[in-house]
Order: sequence, then C-alpha cells, then structure tokens
Amino acid sequence: MSRGSTSEQTLSENKRTFAARADEVACVSVPEGYERWAQTYDQVPNPLLALEKRYLNRILPDLAGKHALDLACGTGRWLTQLLSRGAQAVVGLDLSAAMLRGARDKAPIHRLVLADCLQLPFRASAFDFVLCSFAINHIHSLNVVAQELARTMRPGGQLLICEMHPEAYAQGWRPGFRDTQSAVQIETAGHSAESVISSFQSNTFSCLKVHDLFFGEPERSIFLHTGKGEMFADACRVPAIQVYQFVNTGTAIGS
Ligand SMILES: C[S@@+](CC[C@H](N)C(=O)[O-])C[C@H]1O[C@@H](n2cnc3c(N)ncnc32)[C@H](O)[C@@H]1O
Repeated sequence: MSRGSTSEQTLSENKRTFAARADEVACVSVPEGYERWAQTYDQVPNPLLALEKRYLNRILPDLAGKHALDLACGTGRWLTQLLSRGAQAVVGLDLSAAMLRGARDKAPIHRLVLADCLQLPFRASAFDFVLCSFAINHIHSLNVVAQELARTMRPGGQLLICEMHPEAYAQGWRPGFRDTQSAVQIETAGHSAESVISSFQSNTFSCLKVHDLFFGEPERSIFLHTGKGEMFADACRVPAIQVYQFVNTGTAIGS
C-alpha cells in the first residue's frame, strides 16, 4: 500500500486503529466526549500521544523565565514538561471540567483555567510560549483562536500546534475511545494544513515550519498492547500527526 492509499481494506483497518467501526460508534459533542473520556484518558496507552511526546521532546524550546500556556491542556500531559523546560509560570486552559480534574491531580501547582479557547480570559501579551495539542480539530473557528492568541501572546512568542495529520483524517482516523456505554467518536472539524496556516497567518503569525510525523518502532508495543498489532505496518505508512511551528510577529503579515 502506498502512503495515503484509500483502498477499502486499509481504510477500514485504519478506522479501527483509533476507534471502532463507524457503524458501532456513537458520535458525541466535545463537552460530552471529554466528560466521558476523562475517566480513562491517561490510562489507556495511545500511540498518537506517544509519537507526539517522542517528537516534541526534541523540538520544545528552552522556556527559561518564560510564561507558557497549554491551550486545551486536557488532563495536563504537558504541564510538568513545560515547567521542566524552565518556564517561570505555566497555565493550563480547557473547556472540560472533567479533563481539568485530571490535570489538577497530576500537577496541583499549576494554574488551571476552565474556559473556551475562543475567549481567552488573559491580558494582552501574557504568554511567551503556547502549546496546543490535539485540540484544533475540535474548533470550527480557527480564525477566532488565532485572534485570541495574537492578542494574548507577546510579539516574538512561539506557538506549537499539534493535530492528527489531514491525510490520516482523510483515511478515517478520528479521536475516539470506548467506555462502559459504547465506542465513542468526538465531533471534529478536520482542518486542512492550508486552512490552519492561513488562519494564523491572517492574524500576525508567521509559519516557521510544518513537521509530518510517522509512527515508528517505539510505537509498535502500544499497537501490540492494545490488540492492534496487525494494523501497525499500514499505520506507519500514513503521516499520523502534523506539527506547526508559528511565531507571533506582532503585526499583521503583509501590512
Ligand atoms: C484530545 S484532548 C487533548 C488534551 C491535551 N492537549 C493532550 O494533548 O493530551 C482535546 C482537549 O481539547 C479541549 N477542547 C476542545 N475544544 C475546546 C475549546 N473550544 N476550548 C478549550 N478547550 C477545548 C477538550 O476539552 C479536550 O480536553
């Protein structure tokens, strides 16, 4: 199979990599989905989260003395990592009280804020660094998030956005989990790379680099552990994650 192939067999196998088949899956809203997923989010090994961690650990900048925001921080996977990079202050923001409870248990010293990315309760130029991991596909109005980050990040501040790769999304991969009630998929928008870049470039951000991440040997054991070992080889041929590196220039690009 070539990378990005949509053959019937591979498509259905890949759909089952991260969620059960569509005919067995309940599609729920973002608030309901994360209320339910929060119970197990940190407990079930997830190859996408593992791949992202493996890669971001290599490219996260030194944050000595910086103010960092983990936007849509969920259960706070990244909060302590940001602090260990030297950040002076780390704030986690999320819409889901249930996900934030996980973050509070894990990282009680951090400031956690229950709010919507579309309306950030922060002063202008509050942050030097923002990470937004696996959340933008839940947000329809990227332009509004970009405006809010343009306001709340200082000029020169760096923004890292990670999301399921559009090619993987096109093959049917979706954020999903199984709980006691059913297999669940959470509502997504599925933005193209072009729309992500243009939303942020229209709002004072310049895109420095886009990285395509593929599963590799370190993720094999997670596929095996979760009973999906036979899908590993095909999943490795699809770019799994896209990482965007932006800098806030502080002025509208082209003005
Ligand atoms: C897949 S989880 C990712 C959590 C965390 N960033 C991580 O990588 O583990 C997506 C998170 O985005 C949050 N989210 C979705 N839409 C949001 C919005 N409009 N404002 C704030 N948080 C949002 C959800 O509540 C959920 O915690």
